[in-house]
Amino acid sequence: MKIKILPEIISNKIAAGEVVERPFSVVKELVENALDAGSTQILIEIEKGGKSLIRVSDNGDGMGRDDALLSIERYATSKISKDEDLFSINTFGFRGEALPSIASVSRFSLVTKEKSAEAGIEIKIDGGKVVSVADKGSPSGTMITVKDLFFNTPARRKFLKSTDTEMGHIADIVASMALGHMGVQFRLLHNGKTVYNLLSAPDSARRAEDVLGKDTRSSLYRLGFSLGDISVSGWISSPMIKRSTARGIYTYVNGRFVRDKVVQHALFEGYAARLIKGEFPVAVIFIKLPYDSVDVNVHPAKREVRFSDQNKVHEAVKAAVKNALDLLDPYKKAAADFIQKERTGKSFGVSEPPTFYKSGGKISHPHPSVLVPPLAGGDQGEGEKPPNMQDDLWEKKQFKDLRILGQLHGTYIICESGEGIILIDQHAAHERILYEELKIRRGRTEAHPSQKLLIPEVIEFGYREAGIFEKLLPDFFKAGIEVEPFGGKAFAVKSVPAFMAGKDIKSAVTEIVEKIIETGFAPGIEKASDEVLKLVACHGAIRANQQLSDKEIRTLVDQLDGCAMPSHCPHGRPTWISFTINELEKFFKRIG
Ligand SMILES: Nc1ncnc2c1ncn2[C@@H]1O[C@H](COP(=O)(O)OP(=O)(O)OP(=O)(O)O)[C@@H](O)[C@H]1O
Ligand SMILES: [Mg+2]
Repeated sequence: MKIKILPEIISNKIAAGEVVERPFSVVKELVENALDAGSTQILIEIEKGGKSLIRVSDNGDGMGRDDALLSIERYATSKISKDEDLFSINTFGFRGEALPSIASVSRFSLVTKEKSAEAGIEIKIDGGKVVSVADKGSPSGTMITVKDLFFNTPARRKFLKSTDTEMGHIADIVASMALGHMGVQFRLLHNGKTVYNLLSAPDSARRAEDVLGKDTRSSLYRLGFSLGDISVSGWISSPMIKRSTARGIYTYVNGRFVRDKVVQHALFEGYAARLIKGEFPVAVIFIKLPYDSVDVNVHPAKREVRFSDQNKVHEAVKAAVKNALDLLDPYKKAAADFIQKERTGKSFGVSEPPTFYKSGGKISHPHPSVLVPPLAGGDQGEGEKPPNMQDDLWEKKQFKDLRILGQLHGTYIICESGEGIILIDQHAAHERILYEELKIRRGRTEAHPSQKLLIPEVIEFGYREAGIFEKLLPDFFKAGIEVEPFGGKAFAVKSVPAFMAGKDIKSAVTEIVEKIIETGFAPGIEKASDEVLKLVACHGAIRANQQLSDKEIRTLVDQLDGCAMPSHCPHGRPTWISFTINELEKFFKRIG
């Protein structure tokens, strides 16, 4: 016989490979168990990003002695018992795998007591082996402690990232679970310091404010829509708020936080032309549907689900988003108000009047790195090289000698050169000019000529963003943006470069921080600092679709002469193209 059944301790370790990827997965499993047990208060204590300690204490139902002993066995669950149950799951857990998996790769302890019991019980397990079981005086509820995660699977332990990174993931997952459970108090401590203390909130608006920050909350509108037995509720951001990543999109299916392509696609379709490629909204979407219309058993870490009628879910989400946004449109809103009045106050899509309508667009990053990779040899910071043969096309490169013919579609500047015609992309060109200016100033020691804001702009970030932003402050300072910590996760922007004055500083800074996080630049690395300069230049630069005066056009074109690399923007897009008379003549078949 070559085939043998694996001993339980090994099979648990294998299961752990799927269930427990890193510290945040442990936090997720333990918090889900606490929620399933009906807890109203959950305390999560973390040390060293979860690498040395993860402890989750709850005030839920607790377990009796026999159940507690069973709970650490594989396939032991109180949540389903028969075949059919698997197809209508209304709890987070159902596999009976999480606790034994976690216990097999850590030093684990479980203390639990049912409300009615006299005493609780403590079970200690080391790398999957039970080391002690004893009565223990404890409050009702459950406390699970996980120390030295992966101490016995060194290959996995090696994959753990820095404390900050692991803690960032933990804060993210706690935030997403808290957004979905406003009635539950969540406290998250890292090395004894409070990261979140989210009191039970009366409604999801308050919880959204506590988790996402006041600024984000104030730009969210309530969703409310149903289609048959599918209901969609939650929050979406005004189309004026654009993020450069999908990190602000939270989707819940029957309370379960998931990443779902169908829902995300529907969300984008709901926004339709209000968002362009590379722009993302902020959204908290709760979808409720009959338990048997969704299969939650399709992903090892339960991060995805499958809908039995995917089209209907798509339709419901899209319609919910579209309705809410249409009502933001002043004309459509007036019409809707009228109809609503006519219909004697019957509830209509949006259940809360908009609290915020900001006029004036906000710059969207014109070349999101995910969608438009920089041209080969694109600007990588110091020692940049032109990305193409652009400079050969027009030899003199004297921008001041160009005769300006005008502006095309508010976006391109048309010029006549000795050899032919030149089109300049005004945004790319200005971005290049500002970037080089910032770079020169960064090299100097004197104070940056930035402009003090009369009233500092206070920005509140999420945990992860705040941590990274704090480390990037010196880089922002070098880019002319002076920021001071303002307590907790808030920061005050005190001054900005002159070219940023009057712009929407808050969203510019938020977008820059998100972009840096997304591209994975770690603070303190020269590249991150350069990326900050590029993004500040991008946000400060004039945009496409912006009419310029003759004088502004002339200044812009002339300034290109001062640039070391005038031919492409800092992200590698060309700033201008040319057509020679010769090319034109060939094209019009004047010459052969
Ligand atoms: N915090 C808790 N409070 C009360 N009971 C708990 C708690 N955590 C676990 N249990 C009990 O232990 C059992 C096993 O938990 P475990 O997380 O291993 O499996 P599960 O939640 O049933 O399924 P899954 O593996 O999908 O999470 C649960 O079914 C539940 O009865
Ligand atoms: Mg569980």
